[in-house]
Amino acid sequence: MVELTLPKNSQIKKNGRSFQAEKGAENTRTFRVYRYDPSTPDNPRVDTYDVDVTGVSMVLDALIKIKNEMDPTLSFRRSCREGVCGSCAMNINGANTLACTKGMDECGSGDIAVYPLPHQPVVRDLVTDLSNFYKQHAYVEPFLQAKEAEPETEWRQSQEDRTKLDGLYECILCACCSTSCPSYWWNGDKDGKDEYLGPAALLQAYRWLADSRDQLDNERLDKLEDDFKLYRCHTIMNCAQVCPKHLNPAEAIAKIKKMMVNRPAKTAPAKQAAE
Ligand code: SF4
Ligand code: SF4
Ligand code: FES
Repeated sequence: MVELTLPKNSQIKKNGRSFQAEKGAENTRTFRVYRYDPSTPDNPRVDTYDVDVTGVSMVLDALIKIKNEMDPTLSFRRSCREGVCGSCAMNINGANTLACTKGMDECGSGDIAVYPLPHQPVVRDLVTDLSNFYKQHAYVEPFLQAKEAEPETEWRQSQEDRTKLDGLYECILCACCSTSCPSYWWNGDKDGKDEYLGPAALLQAYRWLADSRDQLDNERLDKLEDDFKLYRCHTIMNCAQVCPKHLNPAEAIAKIKKMMVNRPAKTAPAKQAAE
């Protein structure tokens, strides 16, 4: 039987620090926030903040308030505050999402648990190392490639063909989907060998396969043709459930599998798509 043990320094200490709201604050919510400081030998811990949430509408606003007014050591990424840059992706009350678009009124009535994206190396607190995720994105070559000479002006596309990119081009690379995918947890970081690329990279792969102007379908499919890169998706659908842009990577993956089986046998050894 397989025995699973966590690395020693990944176990979370039970008692972190507690911060109280200012005296007299009447509208408070308790945040339980994952903390990890790599410059100390200490294990991660969970700190508790009682925050006066008067006038606070989004979880990101509450985190900014904690940082500005209660504990400047708290680290997290954010930039646009509009659900556009993808940098504030984290796990809130057990689900991956963007802190800047997660309303306080969507957090239920109990404590609010804030953790980094699951199964990624933690740089500090809520900041994860997404180097592998970006490497996988680069692997699918997410840019237009054609065999014909470049036109003098733009590559033209009919309105109908352009519509086929809806639901694909909107991805903001927040990593909520890949880091919520159990198959990605197990197979997503094998350094190129037997590695599942995950829903975000595969959605991007399909975005270019679906583009009428791109002419490298076969080469793109070749790069996905092994037992792991594509076929480790088991249609569990966590990805589609958490995507803050309401995209459906699982559907895109199924379409790539279909393209794979439908292409000429000469370049594609017969493979059974698990759809
Ligand atoms: S559908 Fe596929 S990519 Fe999406 S969560 Fe499930 S296994 Fe992962
Ligand atoms: S598909 Fe959705 S969840 Fe995944 S990276 Fe793109 S925007 Fe984020
Ligand atoms: S801060 Fe840019 S998506 Fe949240």
